[in-house]
Amino acid sequence: MSSAIETSVRADFPLFESDIVYLDSAATALKPKAVIDAISDYYQKPGTVHRALYELSSQASTQYELAREKVQKFLGAKRKAEIIFTRGTTDSINLISNTFPLSKGDEIYISAMEHHSNIVPWQMRAQKTGAVLKIIPVTKDGDLDLSNVVFTEKTKLISIAHMTNVTGTIYPIQQVIEMAHAVGAKVFVDGAQAAPHLQIDVQKLDVDFYAFSAHKLYGPTGIGILYGKYDLLEALPPYQGGSDMIDEVSLEHFTYQKPPLKFEAGTPSIAQVMGLGAAIDYLEGHRHPDHEKTLLDYALAKLQAIPGLRVLGNPQDRGPLVTFVIDGAHPADLGTLLDLKGVCVRTGHLCSQPTMQHFGITVATRISLGLYNMQADIDTFIKALDSVLKQI
Ligand code: ALA
Repeated sequence: MSSAIETSVRADFPLFESDIVYLDSAATALKPKAVIDAISDYYQKPGTVHRALYELSSQASTQYELAREKVQKFLGAKRKAEIIFTRGTTDSINLISNTFPLSKGDEIYISAMEHHSNIVPWQMRAQKTGAVLKIIPVTKDGDLDLSNVVFTEKTKLISIAHMTNVTGTIYPIQQVIEMAHAVGAKVFVDGAQAAPHLQIDVQKLDVDFYAFSAHKLYGPTGIGILYGKYDLLEALPPYQGGSDMIDEVSLEHFTYQKPPLKFEAGTPSIAQVMGLGAAIDYLEGHRHPDHEKTLLDYALAKLQAIPGLRVLGNPQDRGPLVTFVIDGAHPADLGTLLDLKGVCVRTGHLCSQPTMQHFGITVATRISLGLYNMQADIDTFIKALDSVLKQI
Protein backbone atom coordinates (compact mmCIF):
# COMPACT_ATOMS: atom_id res chain seq x y z
CA MET A 1 0.00 0.00 0.00
CA SER A 2 1.46 3.40 -0.92
CA SER A 3 1.78 6.02 1.78
CA ALA A 4 -0.88 8.16 0.01
CA ILE A 5 -3.38 5.27 0.26
CA GLU A 6 -2.35 4.64 3.87
CA THR A 7 -3.03 8.27 4.72
CA SER A 8 -6.43 8.24 3.05
CA VAL A 9 -7.41 4.97 4.77
CA ARG A 10 -6.32 6.34 8.16
CA ALA A 11 -8.45 9.43 7.57
CA ASP A 12 -11.51 7.17 7.31
CA PHE A 13 -11.15 6.02 10.94
CA PRO A 14 -11.97 8.64 13.60
CA LEU A 15 -9.76 6.96 16.22
CA PHE A 16 -6.68 8.02 14.26
CA GLU A 17 -7.44 11.65 15.05
CA SER A 18 -5.59 10.67 18.26
CA ASP A 19 -2.09 9.14 18.48
CA ILE A 20 -3.37 5.76 19.60
CA VAL A 21 -1.64 2.72 18.12
CA TYR A 22 -4.38 0.16 17.71
CA LEU A 23 -3.17 -3.46 17.52
CA ASP A 24 -6.26 -5.36 18.65
CA SER A 25 -8.33 -5.80 15.50
CA ALA A 26 -8.72 -9.54 16.12
CA ALA A 27 -10.75 -8.65 19.22
CA THR A 28 -12.72 -5.91 17.51
CA ALA A 29 -11.81 -3.81 14.48
CA LEU A 30 -12.13 -0.03 14.26
CA LYS A 31 -15.10 1.34 12.33
CA PRO A 32 -14.71 3.66 9.34
CA LYS A 33 -16.88 6.77 9.11
CA ALA A 34 -18.90 5.13 6.32
CA VAL A 35 -20.10 2.49 8.80
CA ILE A 36 -20.80 4.99 11.56
CA ASP A 37 -22.72 7.15 9.05
CA ALA A 38 -24.79 4.21 7.79
CA ILE A 39 -25.90 3.47 11.35
CA SER A 40 -26.57 7.13 12.12
CA ASP A 41 -28.46 7.62 8.81
CA TYR A 42 -30.75 4.76 9.68
CA TYR A 43 -31.51 6.22 13.11
CA GLN A 44 -32.24 9.63 11.53
CA LYS A 45 -35.02 7.98 9.52
CA PRO A 46 -35.80 4.69 11.23
CA GLY A 47 -38.50 2.24 10.29
CA THR A 48 -39.17 -1.36 11.17
CA VAL A 49 -38.64 -4.11 8.60
CA HIS A 50 -40.92 -6.70 7.01
CA ARG A 51 -44.09 -5.64 8.83
CA ALA A 52 -45.43 -2.18 8.00
CA LEU A 53 -46.63 -0.45 4.87
CA TYR A 54 -45.46 3.13 5.38
CA GLU A 55 -42.58 4.48 3.30
CA LEU A 56 -39.94 4.55 6.07
CA SER A 57 -40.55 0.89 6.78
CA SER A 58 -40.47 -0.08 3.15
CA GLN A 59 -37.15 1.80 2.66
CA ALA A 60 -35.69 0.09 5.73
CA SER A 61 -36.81 -3.34 4.45
CA THR A 62 -35.21 -2.67 1.05
CA GLN A 63 -31.90 -1.59 2.61
CA TYR A 64 -31.99 -4.51 5.03
CA GLU A 65 -32.43 -7.05 2.23
CA LEU A 66 -29.80 -5.24 0.14
CA ALA A 67 -27.32 -5.81 2.97
CA ARG A 68 -28.22 -9.52 2.88
CA GLU A 69 -27.38 -9.54 -0.84
CA LYS A 70 -24.03 -7.91 -0.09
CA VAL A 71 -23.24 -10.68 2.39
CA GLN A 72 -24.35 -13.29 -0.16
CA LYS A 73 -21.87 -11.89 -2.71
CA PHE A 74 -19.17 -11.46 -0.06
CA LEU A 75 -19.38 -15.19 0.78
CA GLY A 76 -20.08 -16.40 -2.75
CA ALA A 77 -23.35 -18.02 -1.61
CA LYS A 78 -25.76 -19.37 -4.21
CA ARG A 79 -28.89 -17.87 -2.66
CA LYS A 80 -29.71 -14.83 -0.59
CA ALA A 81 -31.94 -17.06 1.54
CA GLU A 82 -28.83 -18.88 2.78
CA ILE A 83 -27.71 -15.78 4.72
CA ILE A 84 -29.08 -15.49 8.27
CA PHE A 85 -28.51 -12.46 10.45
CA THR A 86 -27.50 -13.47 13.98
CA ARG A 87 -26.00 -11.54 16.91
CA GLY A 88 -22.48 -12.68 16.01
CA THR A 89 -20.31 -15.75 15.48
CA THR A 90 -21.07 -17.09 18.97
CA ASP A 91 -24.81 -16.79 18.31
CA SER A 92 -24.38 -18.53 14.93
CA ILE A 93 -22.53 -21.41 16.59
CA ASN A 94 -25.21 -21.68 19.27
CA LEU A 95 -27.93 -21.70 16.62
CA ILE A 96 -26.39 -24.73 14.92
CA SER A 97 -25.26 -26.47 18.12
CA ASN A 98 -28.84 -26.25 19.41
CA THR A 99 -30.62 -27.34 16.24
CA PHE A 100 -28.34 -29.76 14.38
CA PRO A 101 -29.71 -33.30 14.79
CA LEU A 102 -27.49 -35.27 17.15
CA SER A 103 -28.10 -38.43 19.17
CA LYS A 104 -26.29 -40.51 21.76
CA GLY A 105 -22.99 -41.83 20.38
CA ASP A 106 -22.82 -39.40 17.45
CA GLU A 107 -19.44 -37.70 17.09
CA ILE A 108 -18.82 -33.97 16.92
CA TYR A 109 -15.25 -32.84 16.20
CA ILE A 110 -13.56 -29.54 17.03
CA SER A 111 -9.84 -28.71 16.95
CA ALA A 112 -7.58 -28.34 20.00
CA MET A 113 -7.14 -24.60 19.34
CA GLU A 114 -10.67 -23.18 19.12
CA HIS A 115 -11.80 -20.10 21.02
CA HIS A 116 -14.28 -20.76 23.83
CA SER A 117 -17.29 -19.97 21.64
CA ASN A 118 -16.46 -22.93 19.43
CA ILE A 119 -15.93 -25.28 22.37
CA VAL A 120 -18.52 -24.62 25.06
CA PRO A 121 -21.70 -24.77 22.89
CA TRP A 122 -20.61 -28.22 21.68
CA GLN A 123 -19.78 -29.38 25.21
CA MET A 124 -23.27 -28.25 26.26
CA ARG A 125 -24.94 -30.06 23.36
CA ALA A 126 -22.88 -33.20 23.94
CA GLN A 127 -23.97 -33.19 27.59
CA LYS A 128 -27.62 -32.89 26.55
CA THR A 129 -27.64 -35.51 23.81
CA GLY A 130 -24.98 -38.04 24.80
CA ALA A 131 -23.07 -37.17 21.63
CA VAL A 132 -19.29 -37.49 21.94
CA LEU A 133 -17.07 -34.43 21.53
CA LYS A 134 -13.79 -35.40 19.88
CA ILE A 135 -10.69 -33.27 19.35
CA ILE A 136 -8.53 -32.89 16.25
CA PRO A 137 -5.01 -32.40 17.67
CA VAL A 138 -2.58 -29.68 16.68
CA THR A 139 1.20 -29.81 16.39
CA LYS A 140 3.81 -27.92 18.43
CA ASP A 141 3.90 -25.34 15.64
CA GLY A 142 0.13 -24.84 15.86
CA ASP A 143 -0.81 -26.65 12.66
CA LEU A 144 -3.80 -28.97 12.43
CA ASP A 145 -2.68 -32.60 12.74
CA LEU A 146 -5.01 -34.72 10.65
CA SER A 147 -2.55 -37.61 10.36
CA ASN A 148 -4.37 -39.91 12.82
CA VAL A 149 -7.90 -38.53 12.46
CA VAL A 150 -10.44 -40.96 11.07
CA PHE A 151 -13.99 -39.75 10.58
CA THR A 152 -16.53 -42.57 10.55
CA GLU A 153 -20.26 -42.98 9.92
CA LYS A 154 -20.71 -41.91 13.56
CA THR A 155 -19.12 -38.54 12.77
CA LYS A 156 -21.92 -36.06 12.17
CA LEU A 157 -20.38 -32.61 12.42
CA ILE A 158 -16.97 -30.94 12.41
CA SER A 159 -16.86 -27.39 13.76
CA ILE A 160 -13.56 -25.71 13.11
CA ALA A 161 -11.97 -22.26 12.86
CA HIS A 162 -10.85 -20.99 9.47
CA MET A 163 -8.13 -18.92 11.18
CA THR A 164 -7.32 -19.39 14.87
CA ASN A 165 -7.29 -16.41 17.23
CA VAL A 166 -4.09 -17.20 19.16
CA THR A 167 -1.59 -18.48 16.60
CA GLY A 168 -3.31 -17.03 13.54
CA THR A 169 -3.11 -20.48 11.91
CA ILE A 170 -5.11 -20.75 8.71
CA TYR A 171 -6.46 -24.27 8.91
CA PRO A 172 -6.70 -26.49 5.78
CA ILE A 173 -10.48 -26.37 5.85
CA GLN A 174 -10.82 -27.62 2.28
CA GLN A 175 -9.16 -30.89 3.33
CA VAL A 176 -11.36 -31.16 6.44
CA ILE A 177 -14.49 -30.61 4.33
CA GLU A 178 -13.48 -33.31 1.84
CA MET A 179 -12.68 -35.78 4.67
CA ALA A 180 -15.99 -35.01 6.38
CA HIS A 181 -18.11 -35.27 3.25
CA ALA A 182 -16.53 -38.64 2.43
CA VAL A 183 -18.39 -40.07 5.48
CA GLY A 184 -21.50 -37.92 5.10
CA ALA A 185 -20.60 -35.52 7.95
CA LYS A 186 -21.24 -31.77 7.77
CA VAL A 187 -18.76 -28.97 8.43
CA PHE A 188 -19.30 -25.71 10.27
CA VAL A 189 -16.51 -23.18 9.73
CA ASP A 190 -16.01 -20.41 12.29
CA GLY A 191 -14.79 -17.53 10.14
CA ALA A 192 -14.65 -14.89 12.90
CA GLN A 193 -10.91 -14.28 12.39
CA ALA A 194 -10.68 -15.21 8.71
CA ALA A 195 -13.50 -13.18 7.18
CA PRO A 196 -11.78 -9.78 7.55
CA HIS A 197 -8.62 -11.08 5.83
CA LEU A 198 -9.34 -13.94 3.39
CA GLN A 199 -11.43 -14.18 0.23
CA ILE A 200 -14.19 -16.67 0.99
CA ASP A 201 -16.15 -18.69 -1.52
CA VAL A 202 -18.56 -21.00 0.29
CA GLN A 203 -19.63 -22.73 -2.92
CA LYS A 204 -16.09 -23.49 -4.00
CA LEU A 205 -15.25 -24.72 -0.49
CA ASP A 206 -18.50 -26.71 -0.48
CA VAL A 207 -18.75 -25.83 3.21
CA ASP A 208 -22.08 -26.58 4.91
CA PHE A 209 -22.15 -23.70 7.42
CA TYR A 210 -19.94 -20.61 7.73
CA ALA A 211 -20.15 -17.87 10.38
CA PHE A 212 -18.57 -14.50 11.07
CA SER A 213 -19.10 -11.35 13.16
CA ALA A 214 -19.47 -7.85 11.74
CA HIS A 215 -17.49 -6.15 14.51
CA LYS A 216 -14.24 -7.85 13.53
CA LEU A 217 -14.90 -6.84 9.91
CA TYR A 218 -14.96 -3.05 10.50
CA GLY A 219 -18.70 -3.22 11.20
CA PRO A 220 -20.92 -2.81 14.28
CA THR A 221 -21.20 -5.03 17.32
CA GLY A 222 -24.30 -7.15 17.86
CA ILE A 223 -24.64 -8.49 14.34
CA GLY A 224 -23.19 -11.55 12.64
CA ILE A 225 -23.81 -14.03 9.90
CA LEU A 226 -24.69 -17.65 9.64
CA TYR A 227 -24.41 -19.04 6.12
CA GLY A 228 -25.94 -22.48 5.56
CA LYS A 229 -26.70 -24.55 2.48
CA TYR A 230 -30.38 -23.99 1.84
CA ASP A 231 -31.52 -27.61 2.10
CA LEU A 232 -29.71 -28.00 5.43
CA LEU A 233 -31.26 -24.81 6.83
CA GLU A 234 -34.66 -25.94 5.66
CA ALA A 235 -34.29 -29.27 7.46
CA LEU A 236 -33.30 -27.71 10.82
CA PRO A 237 -35.98 -26.78 13.35
CA PRO A 238 -36.37 -23.10 14.27
CA TYR A 239 -34.08 -21.94 17.10
CA GLN A 240 -36.04 -19.10 18.70
CA GLY A 241 -39.71 -18.18 18.45
CA GLY A 242 -41.29 -14.76 17.92
CA SER A 243 -42.15 -12.23 15.27
CA ASP A 244 -40.37 -12.28 11.91
CA MET A 245 -39.94 -16.06 12.06
CA ILE A 246 -43.67 -16.81 12.16
CA ASP A 247 -46.06 -17.53 9.32
CA GLU A 248 -49.37 -18.09 11.16
CA VAL A 249 -50.08 -18.17 14.88
CA SER A 250 -53.16 -19.25 16.80
CA LEU A 251 -53.45 -19.84 20.52
CA GLU A 252 -53.00 -23.54 19.82
CA HIS A 253 -50.23 -23.68 17.24
CA PHE A 254 -47.91 -21.83 14.86
CA THR A 255 -46.32 -22.25 11.48
CA TYR A 256 -43.06 -20.63 10.52
CA GLN A 257 -41.29 -18.97 7.60
CA LYS A 258 -38.77 -20.54 5.28
CA PRO A 259 -35.08 -19.61 5.76
CA PRO A 260 -33.69 -17.08 6.41
CA LEU A 261 -36.59 -15.52 8.36
CA LYS A 262 -37.25 -18.84 10.08
CA PHE A 263 -34.11 -18.12 12.13
CA GLU A 264 -34.65 -14.38 12.69
CA ALA A 265 -37.13 -14.14 15.56
CA GLY A 266 -38.11 -10.73 16.93
CA THR A 267 -37.36 -7.28 15.57
CA PRO A 268 -33.91 -7.67 14.07
CA SER A 269 -30.83 -5.49 14.62
CA ILE A 270 -31.77 -3.20 11.74
CA ALA A 271 -29.21 -0.42 12.27
CA GLN A 272 -26.45 -3.00 12.71
CA VAL A 273 -27.43 -4.69 9.46
CA MET A 274 -27.13 -1.31 7.67
CA GLY A 275 -23.70 -0.89 9.28
CA LEU A 276 -22.66 -4.37 8.18
CA GLY A 277 -23.65 -3.58 4.58
CA ALA A 278 -21.46 -0.46 4.70
CA ALA A 279 -18.59 -2.43 6.28
CA ILE A 280 -18.64 -4.97 3.46
CA ASP A 281 -18.59 -2.16 0.88
CA TYR A 282 -15.66 -0.60 2.72
CA LEU A 283 -13.68 -3.82 3.00
CA GLU A 284 -14.25 -4.74 -0.65
CA GLY A 285 -12.94 -1.32 -1.66
CA HIS A 286 -9.87 -1.43 0.57
CA ARG A 287 -8.57 -5.00 0.57
CA HIS A 288 -4.76 -5.15 0.61
CA PRO A 289 -3.82 -8.67 1.76
CA ASP A 290 -0.20 -8.19 0.67
CA HIS A 291 0.02 -5.13 2.88
CA GLU A 292 -1.16 -7.10 5.94
CA LYS A 293 1.25 -9.95 5.11
CA THR A 294 4.21 -7.55 4.75
CA LEU A 295 3.36 -5.91 8.07
CA LEU A 296 2.93 -9.29 9.76
CA ASP A 297 6.38 -10.44 8.58
CA TYR A 298 7.87 -7.14 9.70
CA ALA A 299 6.27 -7.42 13.16
CA LEU A 300 7.31 -11.08 13.52
CA ALA A 301 10.95 -10.30 12.70
CA LYS A 302 11.03 -7.39 15.15
CA LEU A 303 9.41 -9.43 17.94
CA GLN A 304 11.62 -12.46 17.41
CA ALA A 305 14.69 -10.26 17.85
CA ILE A 306 13.67 -9.42 21.46
CA PRO A 307 15.65 -11.55 23.97
CA GLY A 308 13.46 -13.89 26.03
CA LEU A 309 10.42 -13.48 23.77
CA ARG A 310 8.64 -16.59 22.50
CA VAL A 311 6.09 -16.40 19.70
CA LEU A 312 3.30 -18.98 20.10
CA GLY A 313 3.29 -21.31 17.12
CA ASN A 314 5.01 -21.27 13.78
CA PRO A 315 2.18 -22.36 11.49
CA GLN A 316 2.60 -23.00 7.77
CA ASP A 317 0.03 -20.36 6.93
CA ARG A 318 -0.65 -17.46 9.33
CA GLY A 319 -3.10 -14.59 9.30
CA PRO A 320 -2.06 -11.14 10.54
CA LEU A 321 -1.68 -11.68 14.27
CA VAL A 322 1.12 -12.68 16.64
CA THR A 323 0.79 -13.93 20.22
CA PHE A 324 3.84 -14.05 22.45
CA VAL A 325 5.18 -14.44 25.99
CA ILE A 326 8.31 -12.82 27.41
CA ASP A 327 10.41 -14.27 30.24
CA GLY A 328 9.84 -12.29 33.42
CA ALA A 329 7.15 -10.00 31.95
CA HIS A 330 3.55 -10.73 32.92
CA PRO A 331 1.08 -9.91 30.10
CA ALA A 332 -1.09 -7.89 32.52
CA ASP A 333 1.90 -5.62 33.25
CA LEU A 334 2.77 -5.40 29.56
CA GLY A 335 -0.79 -4.53 28.56
CA THR A 336 -1.13 -1.86 31.25
CA LEU A 337 2.23 -0.23 30.63
CA LEU A 338 1.81 -0.29 26.85
CA ASP A 339 -1.60 1.33 27.27
CA LEU A 340 0.07 4.17 29.20
CA LYS A 341 2.15 4.72 26.06
CA GLY A 342 -0.95 4.73 23.85
CA VAL A 343 -0.55 1.20 22.46
CA CYS A 344 -3.57 -1.15 22.56
CA VAL A 345 -2.75 -4.88 22.64
CA ARG A 346 -4.78 -7.85 23.87
CA THR A 347 -3.62 -9.73 26.97
CA GLY A 348 -4.91 -12.64 29.03
CA HIS A 349 -6.09 -16.08 27.98
CA LEU A 350 -7.45 -14.65 24.71
CA CYS A 351 -10.74 -16.54 25.14
CA SER A 352 -8.89 -19.76 24.43
CA GLN A 353 -7.65 -21.42 27.60
CA PRO A 354 -7.15 -24.80 25.85
CA THR A 355 -4.74 -23.11 23.40
CA MET A 356 -2.86 -21.59 26.33
CA GLN A 357 -2.66 -25.08 27.88
CA HIS A 358 -1.36 -26.48 24.57
CA PHE A 359 1.57 -24.04 24.78
CA GLY A 360 2.11 -24.66 28.51
CA ILE A 361 1.07 -21.18 29.66
CA THR A 362 -2.02 -19.50 31.10
CA VAL A 363 -1.84 -15.98 29.64
CA ALA A 364 -0.12 -14.19 26.76
CA THR A 365 0.02 -10.94 24.80
CA ARG A 366 -1.30 -10.56 21.25
CA ILE A 367 -0.97 -7.97 18.53
CA SER A 368 -3.34 -8.19 15.57
CA LEU A 369 -3.52 -6.10 12.42
CA GLY A 370 -6.22 -4.44 10.38
CA LEU A 371 -6.20 -2.82 6.95
CA TYR A 372 -5.42 0.56 8.56
CA ASN A 373 -2.17 -0.44 10.30
CA MET A 374 1.14 0.87 9.02
CA GLN A 375 4.80 0.07 9.60
CA ALA A 376 4.98 3.11 11.87
CA ASP A 377 2.48 1.40 14.24
CA ILE A 378 4.81 -1.59 14.59
CA ASP A 379 7.81 0.69 15.11
CA THR A 380 6.00 2.66 17.85
CA PHE A 381 4.84 -0.57 19.48
CA ILE A 382 8.33 -2.13 19.46
CA LYS A 383 9.86 1.06 20.85
CA ALA A 384 7.19 1.17 23.59
CA LEU A 385 7.74 -2.53 24.35
CA ASP A 386 11.52 -2.04 24.65
CA SER A 387 10.96 0.79 27.06
CA VAL A 388 8.35 -1.12 29.09
CA LEU A 389 10.67 -4.13 29.37
CA LYS A 390 13.30 -1.88 30.94
CA GLN A 391 10.71 -0.76 33.55
CA ILE A 392 9.57 -4.26 34.55
N1 ALA B 1 -12.81 -12.21 20.41
C1 ALA B 1 -11.80 -13.09 20.90
C2 ALA B 1 -10.42 -12.62 20.51
O1 ALA B 1 -10.08 -11.50 20.81
C3 ALA B 1 -12.08 -14.47 20.58
O2 ALA B 1 -9.66 -13.37 19.97
